[in-house]
Amino acid sequence: MHNNITLFNAESHRFILLNESDPSDEDGIPSNQYLILHNGKGTLLDPGGFGVMPQVLNVMLQYIQPQDIEAIVLSHQDPDIVGGLSSWMKLTSAKIYVSRIWRRFLPHYGITHMQRFVDIPDDGCNITLNSGLTLTFVPAHFLHSPGQINVYDPLSKILFSGDVGASLVPLDENADNSDVFAHNFSTHLQFTEGFHKRYMASNRALRHWVQQVRKLDVDIIAPQHGLLYRGQVKDEFLDWLYDLPCGSDLLELD
Ligand SMILES: [Fe+2]
Ligand SMILES: [Fe+2]
Repeated sequence: MHNNITLFNAESHRFILLNESDPSDEDGIPSNQYLILHNGKGTLLDPGGFGVMPQVLNVMLQYIQPQDIEAIVLSHQDPDIVGGLSSWMKLTSAKIYVSRIWRRFLPHYGITHMQRFVDIPDDGCNITLNSGLTLTFVPAHFLHSPGQINVYDPLSKILFSGDVGASLVPLDENADNSDVFAHNFSTHLQFTEGFHKRYMASNRALRHWVQQVRKLDVDIIAPQHGLLYRGQVKDEFLDWLYDLPCGSDLLELD
């Protein structure tokens, strides 16, 4: 499991992989939680499910106090993202950013104070937070969620890609805690291919996403599950996604 990995560090701006949950924390799929620090304020990206919340908080406290968390971004509506949100909302006064199509479903998680939520429009947008941090919200709809948003941080050139690029890598394949990157795409493929074929809606959705990402200057693609992508592996990953039949493409018609 990886935690406390600084992916980018410059004066007053830092992008951290806070924690990769241990499956035993939640009896579920391991997930990555990220923190962006900017001018002393924090933004949490997909803070995780209910079971992982204490561990994420524990690591986060090494960097910042809850009252200085100004934003929480939910890439989509899944329980491995939203499950711990009501605790985070009690601890912080952060605004919550989520696709406009999911806001009305979230109260079913027992979440109140919906006035703290900010809808992200379907086409994405730029939002500048009180700290001065500008986040670029990039649409990633149907990958897999009908309302998924990615977050691009122009200062670190890191794209938080939610479930796009997710992999489930056996522990012994990447035992070095400081090494969070996939180094060989052809060996990595076995850990990510099945997920993308089954969960991603269609090749059209993938192509649309790849086109958006190629317009950005991206150094690192950081998914919500598994290893991260950069350099040649990142380019090979984008090429592979662009041509991948998946989801409804694979349904056999009579
Ligand atoms: Fe998901
Ligand atoms: Fe996920």
